[in-house]
Amino acid sequence: MAKAPKSIFVCAECGATSTRWVGRCPECEAWNSMEETAPIAPERQVGAPPAPKSPAVRFRDLSVSDYLRSETGMCELDRVLGGGLVAGSVVLISGEPGIGKSTLLLQIGAKLCSERRVLYVSGEESGGQLRLRYNRLGVEGDELYLLTETNTDAILGECRRISPDVIIIDSVQTLWSERFSSAPGSVTQVKEGALSFISYAKTVGAAVFLVGHVNKEGGISGPKMLEHMVDVVLCFEGERTHAYRIIRAAKNRYGSTNEIGVFEMGDRGLREIPNPSEVLLAERPRNVSGSCAGCVLEGSRPLVTEIQALASKSVYASPKRTSDGFDSNRLSLLLAVLERRLGLRFSENDVYLNIAGGMRLDEPAADLAVALALISGITDKLLPDSLIAFGELGLAGEVRAVSQAEYRVKEAVRLGFTEILLPKRSLTRHLKVPEGVRLIGVSSIYEALPLLAPRSGES
Ligand code: TYD
Ligand code: MG
Repeated sequence: MAKAPKSIFVCAECGATSTRWVGRCPECEAWNSMEETAPIAPERQVGAPPAPKSPAVRFRDLSVSDYLRSETGMCELDRVLGGGLVAGSVVLISGEPGIGKSTLLLQIGAKLCSERRVLYVSGEESGGQLRLRYNRLGVEGDELYLLTETNTDAILGECRRISPDVIIIDSVQTLWSERFSSAPGSVTQVKEGALSFISYAKTVGAAVFLVGHVNKEGGISGPKMLEHMVDVVLCFEGERTHAYRIIRAAKNRYGSTNEIGVFEMGDRGLREIPNPSEVLLAERPRNVSGSCAGCVLEGSRPLVTEIQALASKSVYASPKRTSDGFDSNRLSLLLAVLERRLGLRFSENDVYLNIAGGMRLDEPAADLAVALALISGITDKLLPDSLIAFGELGLAGEVRAVSQAEYRVKEAVRLGFTEILLPKRSLTRHLKVPEGVRLIGVSSIYEALPLLAPRSGES
């Protein structure tokens, strides 16, 4: 008698498999993450190999008609998608609860429904709740449908009936099907649910948005493998206490992953911010120490923001370092460089660093402005309000060249800065500035020190 097929156990965190249940994953050492999945199918009878769905074709004979993009009507989103929504693509939007995923998707639906049929599937909110949000957002088109359902097969049945061009699944973690024995929310259910929509999207050419919640470690909770299956992964970031929200592409089969989209959460949903620098600088205080404007590149777009630093005498045995929007290891490194090279006593002070507006600066080009804000903060000397700085700082205190200096200079000039501090090596003949704007090339942090002036009345 043939043996019954055996179940396998898959880790929800890393996807490792085991033939028996274990309390702790042998690969990633996560506790209680092993879940039972469908039995392994008995080996196929050897015979004629199955025919492929379609035979191999030459690359140059491939048609590109099914690769058409269409704009969503939200420029900030189109930018991250690489120029618009591709028909037949599957986009995963991940983010922490309450960040605004459902709001964004209902707004996308609201924009698209004047020209295309959109089905919004909600497994988390009731029709009444969604209607309230719908009223707040002011939807214009008619072709926006709502389905409150979590059964994958029932949703697919409804999709076949009304043939939407765009399907929004909020959220993928609520999907389940009777075809699988595991509980709703388990790896198998979520993975199979996502696979059903991926195959539906590819077959009929509909675009699908999947919402994925992120757990506290930052992974898309449960199946990390969703990221491999979809075409585009967008991360929705931002502090819930700040109004600004940023969409970043973590993966994009149809475009670059460097671009970001900036939004502001208001009482009528998310508003696009096409010129984030202006908004970020709007509340900049004048004549205060510990403040410096910096410029980083986010994809093709330069972003100017204010960096604020405060140093105060520490009462702790090991002084505090608090950093908001800037990598704390990088901050420690910059503090060590400034202490060692300039003799500033940061080790006796608590240091607080903040990037205005809740932005995150990951590019090393922010180093010079962060260092100047720190120096100004600890010495209580002022930097001119008209000054902006960008450049990477090395361990010897040298200022290293950064890419695309001309874009950064252009943005700084547009925003009215008249003194631009930049790495000497980035100061090329191609950099053109209008009269009245001064480019100051420096090769080390020492050369930037004369720009700091004592407060008026002090010497
Ligand atoms: P939501 O989109 O439900 O977040 P998610 O789906 O990511 O869990 O809502 C995010 C928050 O935004 C919620 O706390 C309420 C707030 N909000 C506004 O401030 N203005 C609005 O117009 C809407 C619709 C929501
Ligand atoms: Mg939601």
